[in-house]
Amino acid sequence: MTIKEKLLELFESNKGRYFSGEEIAQKLCVSRAAVWKAVNSLRNAGYEIDAVTNKGYCLSAKTDILSSQGIQKYLNSQCRNMELTVLPTVCSTNAMMREKAESGAPQGCAVISNEQTQGRGRYGRNFFSPQGTGIYMSLLLRPSNYSASQAVRITTMAAVAMCEAIEEVSDEQAQIKWVNDIFVKGKKVCGILTEASFGLESGTLEYAVLGVGINVYYPKEGFPEELRQTAGAVFECTQDDVKNKLTAAFLNGFMEFYQAQDQSGYVRKYRERSLAVGKHISVIFADQARNAVVYGVDEECRLLVRYDDGQTERLSYGEIEIKFEEDKLS
Ligand code: BTN
Repeated sequence: MTIKEKLLELFESNKGRYFSGEEIAQKLCVSRAAVWKAVNSLRNAGYEIDAVTNKGYCLSAKTDILSSQGIQKYLNSQCRNMELTVLPTVCSTNAMMREKAESGAPQGCAVISNEQTQGRGRYGRNFFSPQGTGIYMSLLLRPSNYSASQAVRITTMAAVAMCEAIEEVSDEQAQIKWVNDIFVKGKKVCGILTEASFGLESGTLEYAVLGVGINVYYPKEGFPEELRQTAGAVFECTQDDVKNKLTAAFLNGFMEFYQAQDQSGYVRKYRERSLAVGKHISVIFADQARNAVVYGVDEECRLLVRYDDGQTERLSYGEIEIKFEEDKLS
């Protein structure tokens, strides 16, 4: 770790507490000049560090900057040894994690970025990932003996974990638009894209890259025209240290579901949060829309739909549009 990283760790674990330059120098086993340089370097990175004569330096409790030191302090014991890489910008955290996976990186590595220049969405779309207002992260998983149908669980578990994380750090209620879009106050605030690699002979999952993008705040320049109707953010204004908290809450929650022996608990939670149940929807297949009503979510989080002609289907993937928000089944 560099001196700057060590200093950040000390500050993040003691937000709001003053340390004299001498005390820091002793704790980090470096010179006072090196402390001063590291403080300046953190300031240049956007950290608000107070300096008061006879008291020393203190990291403002308001700071809301993603860092591995900042996330670590909120991780529970199950997640403590995760390898977190936090970057200011990246083309796509999923693309980067796939490369790491191919070179043998272990389960539990995460890449987290403040910006993506080529964020990937579902169906080859772009995922709008502006600087500083969102969290873009990818987590590498290497489950043993997961079939293709079990792999879908990774996405649905992540959806529930993200809803719970949002509710832990905010006063908002989060819901899931099947399969994996998270909605707050009627707007999409988070998208999930799991990319997987299967062994050709075994047919089982070699690894999965779970990618999650969340709009914590509204982008400074607003959302692009094509997203304005549908996209939203969890918060309207800046919060104290919420990005690190939200990231850790998601990782804690997700790993708990992922490592549980019995996964039925998360399915119940998925159902309870499902926006589509009881609604009239359009099921979109290759640019064709078919009207249906949703009558449930099964034990694998497949959507149970009844088309207008009475035919029923269990959808395990695909895209839907909810047509009449207020319509409930009688
Ligand atoms: C969607 O809503 O279409 C899914 C969006 C998934 C976006 C996340 S952001 C982190 C990870 N890296 C990517 O390039 N995409 C996913």
